[in-house]
Amino acid sequence: MTTQPDEIKVEVKNLTKYFGNLHVLDDISFNIKKGEFVCVVGPTGCGKTTFLNLLTRIYSPTRGDLFIDGESADPKKHNLAFVFQEPSAFPWLTVEKNLRFGLEIKKLPKDVIDERTEMIIKMLGLQELRNSYPHQLSVSSEQRIIIGRAFAMNPDLLLMDEPYGQMDVKLRFFLEDEVIRLWQELGTTVVFITHNIEEAVYMAQRILILSTKPTTIKEEVIVDLPRPRRFDDPKFVAIRNAVTEKIKWW
Ligand SMILES: Nc1ncnc2c1ncn2[C@@H]1O[C@H](COP(=O)(O)OP(=O)(O)O)[C@@H](O)[C@H]1O
Ligand SMILES: [Mg+2]
Repeated sequence: MTTQPDEIKVEVKNLTKYFGNLHVLDDISFNIKKGEFVCVVGPTGCGKTTFLNLLTRIYSPTRGDLFIDGESADPKKHNLAFVFQEPSAFPWLTVEKNLRFGLEIKKLPKDVIDERTEMIIKMLGLQELRNSYPHQLSVSSEQRIIIGRAFAMNPDLLLMDEPYGQMDVKLRFFLEDEVIRLWQELGTTVVFITHNIEEAVYMAQRILILSTKPTTIKEEVIVDLPRPRRFDDPKFVAIRNAVTEKIKWW
């Protein structure tokens, strides 16, 4: 499949969301390109998770809409995958069966399921753990399985909602690199929500900085640093400082 460099994957158009009288999202518009890696940073309660829930139609917009490949977002039509903050591997399934699960639900042919599962097991180095159960794994291995499961779905769009919030720094660095590697190899479009500015600068091609409620996009920052990125690269530090400067909510 060839991808036009500037093909739009997601279009958010005048998106406004109220919960009762609570004005959460205020007339937000932006695009995400196919294959792009976008990080969204914003204060607690500004509506980041709400935005994802609007994309998956758990909630409906008050005004405006979200489009995927030019069509109003529809979880039945569009293949969205989620990684949440808490690891959520199915405890009663082995690693391999966790990876196969979503593909079996989609009733893909067995050879396709075999092939994708093997690819992800190999890419994540899970060969030794394939017959283990989630409770036998460390938190980082469990989160790797969730990430692998999400990429195995070959999603139109991978949505990650503060997936490393609770992890210590070493695990976080390791899993950040895993996601970057999978993204580079598979070309998935990724929306990654985080609280952590350094994480956003490390991962994103573009960072959207949100305001407090009623929430708008305060600033957009392009991160055009080569990879692998280094936290002590002066250019990295300069961008991190510039983003921090633009954030007045903590
Ligand atoms: N189902 C809901 N009903 C009422 N208020 C909600 C609901 N979901 C979220 N909110 C409110 O909307 C705001 C945004 O929430 P959320 O999207 O979870 O923020 P974030 O993920 O940025 O921390 C918060 O003030 C939250 O209390
Ligand atoms: Mg949230």
